[in-house]
Amino acid sequence: NEEWLSEPREVEDLPLPHDFLWGTATAAYQIEGGASQDNKGKSIWDTFSHLEPSRTNGANGDVACDHYNRVAEDVDLMASYGVDTYRFSISWSRVIPFGGRDDTVNEDGVLFYNKLVDLLLSRKIIPIVTLYHWDAPQELYDRYGAFLNTSEFRADFERFARLCFSRFGDRVTKWVTFNEPYIISIFGHHSGVLAPGHNAASGHDTRTEPWRVGHTIIVSHAAAVHIYATEFQPTQNGSITIVLNGHFYEPWDANSIEHQAGAQRRLEFYIGWFADPIFLGTDYPAEMRARLGSRLPEFSPDEMALLRNTASTNAYYGMNHYSTKFARALPDPPVEDDCTGNVEELATNNKGKMVGPVSGMAWLRVAPDGFRKLLNWVWNRYHLPIVITENGCPCPGESNMSLEQAINDDFRVGYFGLYLDAISRAIYEDGVPVHGYCAWSLMDNFEWSAGYSARYGITHVDYDTLLRTPKKSALYLKRTFNERRKKHE
Ligand code: BG6
Repeated sequence: NEEWLSEPREVEDLPLPHDFLWGTATAAYQIEGGASQDNKGKSIWDTFSHLEPSRTNGANGDVACDHYNRVAEDVDLMASYGVDTYRFSISWSRVIPFGGRDDTVNEDGVLFYNKLVDLLLSRKIIPIVTLYHWDAPQELYDRYGAFLNTSEFRADFERFARLCFSRFGDRVTKWVTFNEPYIISIFGHHSGVLAPGHNAASGHDTRTEPWRVGHTIIVSHAAAVHIYATEFQPTQNGSITIVLNGHFYEPWDANSIEHQAGAQRRLEFYIGWFADPIFLGTDYPAEMRARLGSRLPEFSPDEMALLRNTASTNAYYGMNHYSTKFARALPDPPVEDDCTGNVEELATNNKGKMVGPVSGMAWLRVAPDGFRKLLNWVWNRYHLPIVITENGCPCPGESNMSLEQAINDDFRVGYFGLYLDAISRAIYEDGVPVHGYCAWSLMDNFEWSAGYSARYGITHVDYDTLLRTPKKSALYLKRTFNERRKKHE
């Protein structure tokens, strides 16, 4: 008996540009397995999932989808879906087991990514490579707290980035530095639900840690962009950027100026935090400076110059987006370690309405209108083309379904259809340049906190046999991209 903000639309299969790229996305720790194969070093996720397995629903990525040993099969699979591109991440501790700038390179690890890249190119699939999707080498964390030490982390990340550009950059031309700095900062160093699990209960200073972590990521990103632009881009002709995630926020009370401002502030605390310094080359959003005071680090003159110099090198805005929430401005003063701009996130508005139907994740509701609004918000603020680097959902009840039920994933087909329609509207009705779309995910995988209990794949994975079976959504995406791109003519 739920009431929704607006009734779900029917999928219209609206047109997309003829050169619109589509593909799928994954991340190393979520699919590779081979946790200690061929001299791979440990990452903070190996530690996090083993130390207290309750934090990952009892699961870990030791085997995951065993992609490390099935890479050829997986490339065949995506080729059969007709993808143009594939976004994956490199496990830092697989190529530099101890992570540091003076540590030895693991040639077996390099070989694995060389093989993956070559297989992709042999099938005409363009690799989009993320350097960091949450799996910092454990050694760097043990030595200096990883992100908590800006100068040490930056120097080690520069070495790692340079290694990847020099070993793979002759064939990889699309680079992403970090995946979702918000999640690394807040979920890793405030709520502590993700690695390394820092929160107030474990004795960490949640007033300052997330902002220090965010600062390290912004500066390390800009440093890697500078290295790419000056040392590699002139001969490799590739592009580089960062991937930011974010919900769209509707005001809790649509008629109240206060809650409208709250929704805007929430977007700035979530997205502007990273996007303003990185894409505009400016300081953190003014609202953040005003509200966080000395909790928010200052950019040094050198850091500011680096940001200004690199801002326009970022090729596009990499957007991970899943859902929309309501933002309610809080009447009371903020809590001591507030990281929201004193705004509460809610699933319902003041009239008890939800944004749309719920998926297999309680936080993820189907809200394509919110997606379209977010595309507009980002375009209006940053004036950069946008690539959707992740979007998708698990179906309700999917984790308890038989194979036959799970592969008939009509709910996911509907979600993709509506979100692609929203992109079409953003492009043709609003003038927002969206250039590509990666579905999350190529296959069911290790979903961090949820372990194997949440399935986002367009391919079903049987975790006993590791057998892959395409779901209906994979076939839908193949067909709809072909049709939508023809309609454009
Ligand atoms: C994104 C991540 O935040 O969302 C992915 O980049 C992740 O790695 C996906 O799998 C789904 O998130 P969750 O929290 O539902 O597992």
